[in-house]
Amino acid sequence: MKLAVLASGNGSNLQAIIDGTEKGEIDARVVLVISDKKDAYALERARKHRIEACYLDPKKYAGREDYDRAVISLIKERDVGLVILAGYMRLLSPVFISAFPGRIMNIHPSLLPSFPGLEGVGQALRYGVKVSGCTVHFVDENLDTGPVILQEAVPVYDNDTEESLHQRIHDVEHRLYPKAIQLFVKGKISLEGRKCIIHER
Ligand code: GRF
Repeated sequence: MKLAVLASGNGSNLQAIIDGTEKGEIDARVVLVISDKKDAYALERARKHRIEACYLDPKKYAGREDYDRAVISLIKERDVGLVILAGYMRLLSPVFISAFPGRIMNIHPSLLPSFPGLEGVGQALRYGVKVSGCTVHFVDENLDTGPVILQEAVPVYDNDTEESLHQRIHDVEHRLYPKAIQLFVKGKISLEGRKCIIHER
């Protein structure tokens, strides 16, 4: 299966996914990385692995849908089976969601449905929860509301800063996201309503 990854920033999750494909832990390959930020380190990571890296400047498009249409056509030209959001900071339009039904995944740094949207880590810390974590989910029309695929808890310590907690969450993300992608690639995820059933064997 071919994978496309959309990323706006550092791309440490992208790196974990590329590493997973190179180690044979994910039976797929990343064929395209797209970013809305020219300087996203994610693009550099892609180039280092000889993966096609595209920067699309949002300012060159009339609006969100026009931009998404350009992204959609880049992905469709490459026969991609799964679209992966990895720190992609743009909201996807319904046009995008309906172009890849059931084939878009995201990772979020909290235990959804708690603390969706921006600053999931900061929100959890400010709220004072003792346990947070991360969630891999399918993407639907709303923000961070799609069916949950995998979740893992991470403890919150009294002396945590946003950085220290995010680091601990990142470490789990780098394990959880490749695992969810491999389950998808192997056809081991089915949906009953909004509930993901994982067929481990
Ligand atoms: C991750 O914490 C992810 O949960 C969130 O954005 C962050 C991206 O980090 N969606 P990176 O760019 O993969 O390092």
